[in-house]
Amino acid sequence: MFQGDILTLTSRDGFAQLEFDTPGSPVNVFSRKAIEEFSRALDVLEQAELSGLMIVSGKDSFLAGADINEFSAVFSSGADAIAEHLTPNIKNFERLQALPFATVAVINKLALGGGLELALACDYRIADTAARIGLPETRLGIIPGWGGTVRLPRVAGLDTALEWIASGKEAKASEGLKTHVLDAVVELDQLRDCALALLQRCALGEMDYELRRLQKTQPLKLNQVESGLAFESAKALIGHQAGRHYPAPLAALAAIREGATKSAAEAARAELAYFIEVAKTDTAKALSGLFIADQVVSKKARAWKAQASVKTAKLAVVGAGIMGGGIACQSALKGLPVVLKDINQQGIDLGLKEAAKVLGRRVDKGKMSAAGMAEALTRIQATLNYQPLGSADVTVEAVVENSGVKKAVLAEVEAQLPETAVLSSNTSTISITELATALKRPEQFCGLHFFNPVHAMPLVEVIRGAKTSDDTVARAVECATALGKKAIVVNDCAGFLVNRVLFAYFAGFAALLDDGVDFTHIDAVMVRWGWPMGPAHLLDVVGLDTAEHAEVTMAEAFPERMGRAQPSPTARLYKAGLLGQKGGKGFYCYTKDKRGRPQKTVNEDAMQLLHATSASQLDDDMIVLRMMAPLVNELCRTLQDDIVGSVSEADMAMIYGLGFPAHRGGVLRWVDSVGVRQFCENLSALSQCGPLYQAEPMLLELAENGASFYAQAENSPATDAAH
Ligand code: COA
Repeated sequence: MFQGDILTLTSRDGFAQLEFDTPGSPVNVFSRKAIEEFSRALDVLEQAELSGLMIVSGKDSFLAGADINEFSAVFSSGADAIAEHLTPNIKNFERLQALPFATVAVINKLALGGGLELALACDYRIADTAARIGLPETRLGIIPGWGGTVRLPRVAGLDTALEWIASGKEAKASEGLKTHVLDAVVELDQLRDCALALLQRCALGEMDYELRRLQKTQPLKLNQVESGLAFESAKALIGHQAGRHYPAPLAALAAIREGATKSAAEAARAELAYFIEVAKTDTAKALSGLFIADQVVSKKARAWKAQASVKTAKLAVVGAGIMGGGIACQSALKGLPVVLKDINQQGIDLGLKEAAKVLGRRVDKGKMSAAGMAEALTRIQATLNYQPLGSADVTVEAVVENSGVKKAVLAEVEAQLPETAVLSSNTSTISITELATALKRPEQFCGLHFFNPVHAMPLVEVIRGAKTSDDTVARAVECATALGKKAIVVNDCAGFLVNRVLFAYFAGFAALLDDGVDFTHIDAVMVRWGWPMGPAHLLDVVGLDTAEHAEVTMAEAFPERMGRAQPSPTARLYKAGLLGQKGGKGFYCYTKDKRGRPQKTVNEDAMQLLHATSASQLDDDMIVLRMMAPLVNELCRTLQDDIVGSVSEADMAMIYGLGFPAHRGGVLRWVDSVGVRQFCENLSALSQCGPLYQAEPMLLELAENGASFYAQAENSPATDAAH
């Protein structure tokens, strides 16, 4: 009946089937082209003599929503462009809902965003038992824009709609059924037969599909007092959960509230108005940009993985401290057998205790059964001997952060490994090329830098030394992804990507403290700006001993920017015996209240030691600039020096490795939102503050050309083989 590139409309015995099948893509999305073809298929459907329509997918999943790749250009083009982008499918869904026969959406595996909105515009929805459905738009900083805030409350009730839309959650098919979002859940191979049977019953008049349409077009049936209370309490809860940097969940609530008492057509107008409001925000651009940047990272990791000559079947970890124990635990959790080797039983006990603690917390939270935990722990083979390492495909060295010790251990371990094994170091700062000088097979050696706590931090930096082979990089990436981590390949330098940039940020912090600014004030400003914790708190969590040691390494490598004539604030606190959180005292004092909950209070000794003046002369914007500028500059240098392969990977590494605030979309995307030229102007006011604040050539060039990091990246995607 209709044949497009994506959509095919056929009919048999009076029942039509509209199939989505996007050529060359693993999933279906509502791209401009798909929307336009949908509208042409509706032209045909409206004229046809039919008894029913089922909408199906030719892929192994139904529909993943709007095409996120189209967002950035549309969101930046103003209210009219946003409305123009949304309107064709709003109309399509209205036309679908008004067809003169029953309609059913056949959901296999996945219906997200516009995929579920399409299904909600159908009279019935059937899904397979393993399907997941949801409206994740608020996670992208927007709200559903094709009738989700209008139809979901009318189909499933206010509470379900508020919960699903504000959280953006993906619900299982069983929950869809319970909440009446789905009408039936059946085995995958029965989906289409079941849909046809349903349409046949509608055609025979045994089921009243028109009643369902009535429910979707009318105002919600709500008692005014009750609904007022429901909205007010939801507002408080959603506002609290989302936090002040994420406006979309509250905008979704406002759209639902405003539309609740109106007809569906008026409610749709309210939805559009709220959609435009949020789509224009930097948060929407940042969060949809993050999805795309994340896809760049995943795609590169997939490409590396495909090249790996050996898949990791067994891991070995040498050094059973907090990091070693954490890596072993992660391996056990992901079903990968692991040998955990240390030189003394105390070390082994510490590593196993760490693993049991992490898994135990999962059991407490109901994420794992006690039996599952016991099974996972059996995957860890603890040993004091080298011999079991012989069966591991990849070995991670995780002993003390000292170049001499690491070299000796690595050489000893290498001698025990089969010739085909990959050896890696979990060093956080020491050059991989330098460590490789101790080895006979430097080409089979690389860095595998995990972040603390291993189970919670998504990033692993795979560090390529001067002699590391492509196959070693590929096998390391394969291993990191088998451990459930996001792998980013970087070239070698002191601190690699993440710590090199982090220590530039700490250098900015130290410079502020040198000027007498109160660290509690800096922490408060940076947390308000969106960081999960301020720099002083972060240094305490890292450990002042570890941080001081790393500072020395970084200062040696980059003396001009990170070297200091005077001991740094971190060094002064450490030399005064303060270790940070693990020792109970650092910039802050760490205690527990009567109920055992951790408490953090200012350490007055630290205040005195650093001569912090409580009243800061600097305003918040200046503190943010003085903290962020060294970080931005150093990140530019890592791009200039080819340490990291693309703007997207640089930004994702900061988010996954440092917890940089996601709503800012990454460090460089944040600079884009300020405007590179404006950022450079802001920096020029700080020229007296030294080399940390001198804009890098990359920034100056972009500013001169009126360009931005992402416009440049999109025009010349980085695909170089080195990463
Ligand atoms: N828009 C554009 N592209 C999308 C997309 C979307 N909504 N959803 C998925 N894709 C693309 C991915 O970019 C990837 O492209 P690639 O093959 O060129 O790398 C491909 O589809 C497969 O996605 P991927 O994430 O690698 O597969 P997965 O099986 O791990 O996950 C999804 C599939 C659909 C669960 C996941 O991609 C997802 O969550 N997508 C976003 C869904 C969403 O938020 N929809 C609402 C939009 S308003």
